[in-house]
Amino acid sequence: MTLPAASVIGATQVASAKMADRHTPFVFDDWYVAAFADEVGPQLLARTLLGRGIVMYRRADGTVVAMEDRCPHRSMPLSAGELKDDHITCAYHGMRFNPQGDCVHVPSQSTCPRAMGVRTYATLERGPVVWIWMGDADTADARRLPPQPWLTEGDWETSKGYMHLKASYVRLHENLLDLTHLSFLHAKSFGTPDYASAAYETEIGDGHFVVMRNVVPTTLPPVWAEPTGIKGQGQAARIVRSEFRSPAMHEVSVSFYDCTLPEDARDTFRIRTAHLPTPESATSTHYFVVHGRDFSQHDKAMTKFMHDQLFVAFHEDVTGLALQEEVLARTPEHELYEFSVGADGPSVAMRRYLLSRVMAKA
Ligand code: FES
Ligand SMILES: [Fe+2]
Repeated sequence: MTLPAASVIGATQVASAKMADRHTPFVFDDWYVAAFADEVGPQLLARTLLGRGIVMYRRADGTVVAMEDRCPHRSMPLSAGELKDDHITCAYHGMRFNPQGDCVHVPSQSTCPRAMGVRTYATLERGPVVWIWMGDADTADARRLPPQPWLTEGDWETSKGYMHLKASYVRLHENLLDLTHLSFLHAKSFGTPDYASAAYETEIGDGHFVVMRNVVPTTLPPVWAEPTGIKGQGQAARIVRSEFRSPAMHEVSVSFYDCTLPEDARDTFRIRTAHLPTPESATSTHYFVVHGRDFSQHDKAMTKFMHDQLFVAFHEDVTGLALQEEVLARTPEHELYEFSVGADGPSVAMRRYLLSRVMAKA
C-alpha cells in the first residue's frame, strides 16, 4: 500500500495534532499518587513526579510532608540530607528546614534570610495511597479527588503493586480506554478471542470517558475462572466498565456470573482495579495499581494467585507500551501519522480533554 506523505494525510494528522501526546505539558492542577502509604515513613523518600523532584517523609504525628527536593541555598537535593525531629538538615552546608518548608537555622549566622524556604505540596492519605496536589498548594481541593470507597472502607480484599513504565502516561490511559487489545496483547493472560469484537457502549463527556462491554457468553481465563469456579467453556458472563476518572486514575470494574444459571440462582463476583499513573517524565510513568474483590475476602492464597496472574498481564502492557514509545521516539515528527478506528473514540476524546486542560491553564 502506498501512503501519502504525512504532511498531506490531512484530517487524521490534524486530529492527532489536537490530542495530548508525549510532548504535551503535564496537567499540574490535580491529585496524583505520590507513593503507597506504607512507603512513606520517618525517612526521606525521593521521587520525580511530573518532572519535579519531590522529597517526602512522615512526621511524628503521622501526617505526610512533600516538598521540592532542592535546597534553596545551592540546590543540593534535600533527600541527601538528614531527617530529625520532623526537620530536614541539608547535607551540604547544614541549613535546616521545617515541615512547612521554612528555613529555621543557618549554621554560619544567627538568622535565616527572610523568605528563604522550600516549596511544599498538599497531600492526602486515602487507604493504601498518598495523593499529592501538583499545583499550588493553596489551590488544592480535596473534592477533586475521585470517590473511591472500595479502596478505603475495608470491605474489599485488595492487593497492590508498582511498575515503572517507560512510556508516556497518555498512552497508558489510551491503552486502558481501548480494551480491544485484550484479545491480542493479553492473549496468553487474561484476554479471550471474543473480547475485541464484543459489542460495546461508551459514555463521553467533559472529563468523563467510559467503555462498557458485556462479553456473554464467554470463557473465563484462569485468573477469574479459578476464584469464581466458573470454569466451563462459554459458561460465563464478563461485564466490564472501564472508566477514566482523572489524569491520575482509571478504574476498571468487572462482574462475573454463571450465565447458564437462572438470574435468581447465580452469584455475582465483582472485582475492581484502580490504575493510578503518575507521570515521572514525558516518556516515563510511575504505574501504581490497586486491585480488589468483594468475595472470599479472607482467602489470602486466592489474593496471591490473582495478584500474580494479574501482574503478568499488567507487565504485558508495560512491555508493549515501552516498545510503542521506542518507535515514537525514533520516528521523525514530520513522518508520524496514526489512523484511528471506531474503538479509539473514547481514547481520542480523552486525549483531547487532557490537551484542553493544559490549554485552559496556558
Ligand atoms: S546547599 Fe543546602 S545548605 Fe547549602
Ligand atoms: Fe492491557
